[in-house]
Amino acid sequence: MSNIDSILVENRVFPAPAAFEKAARVSGRAQYDALCAEAAADYEGFWARQAREQLTWHKPFTQVLDESRAPFYRWFHDGELNVSYNCIDRHLPLLANKVALIFESDNGTVRRVTYAELSRLVGQFANGLTSLGVTKGDRVVIYMPMSVEAVVAMQACARIGAIHSVVFGGFSAKSLNERIIDAKAKLVITANAGIRGGKVVPLKAVTDEALATDGGDVVERVIVYQRADEKDAPVAWQKGRDIWWHELVQGKPDYCAPVWVNAEDPLFILYTSGSTGKPKGVQHSSAGYLLGAVNSMQLVFDHKPDDIFWCTADVGWITGHSYVAYGPLAVGGTQLIFEGIPTYPDAGRFWQMIERHRVSIFYTAPTAIRSLIKLGGDLPAQFDLSSLRLLGTVGEPINPEAWMWYHEKVGGGRCPIVDTWWQTETGSHMLAPLPGAVATKPGSCTLPLPGIMADIVDEAGASVEKGGGFLVIKRPFPSQVRTLWGDPDRFVKSYFPEEYNGRYYLAGDSAHRDDDGYFWIMGRIDDVLNVSGHRLGTMEIESALVANPLVAEAAVVGRPDALKGEAIVAFVVLKGPRPAGDEAKRIITTLRDWVAKEIGAIAKPEDIRFGDNLPKTRSGKIMRRLLRAIARGEEITQDTSTLENPAILQQLQESI
Ligand code: WTA
Repeated sequence: MSNIDSILVENRVFPAPAAFEKAARVSGRAQYDALCAEAAADYEGFWARQAREQLTWHKPFTQVLDESRAPFYRWFHDGELNVSYNCIDRHLPLLANKVALIFESDNGTVRRVTYAELSRLVGQFANGLTSLGVTKGDRVVIYMPMSVEAVVAMQACARIGAIHSVVFGGFSAKSLNERIIDAKAKLVITANAGIRGGKVVPLKAVTDEALATDGGDVVERVIVYQRADEKDAPVAWQKGRDIWWHELVQGKPDYCAPVWVNAEDPLFILYTSGSTGKPKGVQHSSAGYLLGAVNSMQLVFDHKPDDIFWCTADVGWITGHSYVAYGPLAVGGTQLIFEGIPTYPDAGRFWQMIERHRVSIFYTAPTAIRSLIKLGGDLPAQFDLSSLRLLGTVGEPINPEAWMWYHEKVGGGRCPIVDTWWQTETGSHMLAPLPGAVATKPGSCTLPLPGIMADIVDEAGASVEKGGGFLVIKRPFPSQVRTLWGDPDRFVKSYFPEEYNGRYYLAGDSAHRDDDGYFWIMGRIDDVLNVSGHRLGTMEIESALVANPLVAEAAVVGRPDALKGEAIVAFVVLKGPRPAGDEAKRIITTLRDWVAKEIGAIAKPEDIRFGDNLPKTRSGKIMRRLLRAIARGEEITQDTSTLENPAILQQLQESI
């Protein structure tokens, strides 16, 4: 019975309300189908048209797609533009006084920045960067809290052609150090502190630690934005290296001419987890990336001039790049950005902010939705959410129950929900409903965007019509990852496997299709976990654990978690004897704190179990599927005959 129920739930279909459909940029299924047909008939022509209509070029391109060095594809590669010009300058003639950013701080103060002001802030700061010797192609690491200044810093880099690499403010000194070294960053932009949920996060102190660690001395200068009073966030100061943001911009002209860059010049690097230890430096282009952001703002968010857009992601993640720092500005929109957390001062914060700022498009993560249901499922009813017209989700599959709550309690039953599937590597939405054209189903990201040739294939690359398979994208698309910074071989191996003749982009997710051709994401196919909507490599966490002097061996797996999507469970073999009782508890605390320090608090294992060893095959490979079953408390039904040491299973099952 429960099976039938859940099938019924999943078959619910929600067409867009008639008024929404009528007003939408792409209105009705026939228009969506026509766009897809246009792309299928003339793929390059389709993308060339988008690129000409949506972007402002300094020098027009003549070639659309260059496949001669596949899979190192190039798009519009003889064209020139500037991303910051596209996000700011081109709006100034008509929209100078339109609000670009509404910033709400942790304690509720609000600051509004118009396009004219943003232009001056970015110009001054870009001139400041130039005065410190930053030029086109230099790498700049940004380690900042959510703020107007974080967006300004990213835009200023884009303005002068410097390549930014934003590191999420929750990452540890060690993670920051690794990224700085890998990118060979010349300069770091940070803040004396971040303020979240009433707590002061000492970003400058973490930066100092990262720079004092081996290799950190590649960084020549550190710019420090003063977010908190000096008394609340005292900082050590290295003369000649550190400079306050406000002192840097003082007296600098507020116009900085954009540096025209090639369409293929890198805009940024963003590190993300892979299935092996080292994070991948995902490198994005300028024109193709921006086109993906703009195109999806228009098609998926159906963005209109009067919208108040709010994407809750931090600029440290790809979502905060495409749908905070770039997309909303490139379409001349007004957006809300928020410094704090959804549960401070209470779980009504998001709804209160939607009411206060009359937000019309709201985009957040399923993990946030689930925790807000838990902490206050009835709270949305206490606020006036009538300004909302569209809702979105990203980062992980959303369970139908949470979808229905979001639809009814937040969207009042009238707002379509766009469940957007995409990745750091794809730069922008790949699978998502065009809300005025494609009916939605709770839990499905529905259909590909026009011009995205997504498919589900088997190991040999043949399309799978029924049942699960590997999600691939069969043709290159403008916003895709160009390479992994400094590691082109890993780029090819990770995304363009030989099995598919090096041609299909392999997303690393499994998916299946229903009778209507709708895509349903099933999960990762590699050893990458999705914790609270963020990708974490099991290898990274394992390496961190093994780096602790107490630990001999570690294996990390995911366990489904009602709030976080997946929770991290670590199986650990110590160098000393297997601990029990209070000693085990003490070591668990030590190791959890250790991982938080090595990687960041998001990577802390929920559960740590100790064993005398780990289940291994005779060739020495750890059998993760068994560990997964143990972590989930499932009976082991799998074949264990190839196991070197079968007795270990019972020990691990009994250990707590
Ligand atoms: C997962 C985030 C189901 C997926 C933009 C993907 C999703 C990984 C969805 C990328 C969705 C993202 N439904 N799963 N709507 N969106 N994912 O790089 O496993 O942080 O491969 O980019 O998140 O995570 P990333």
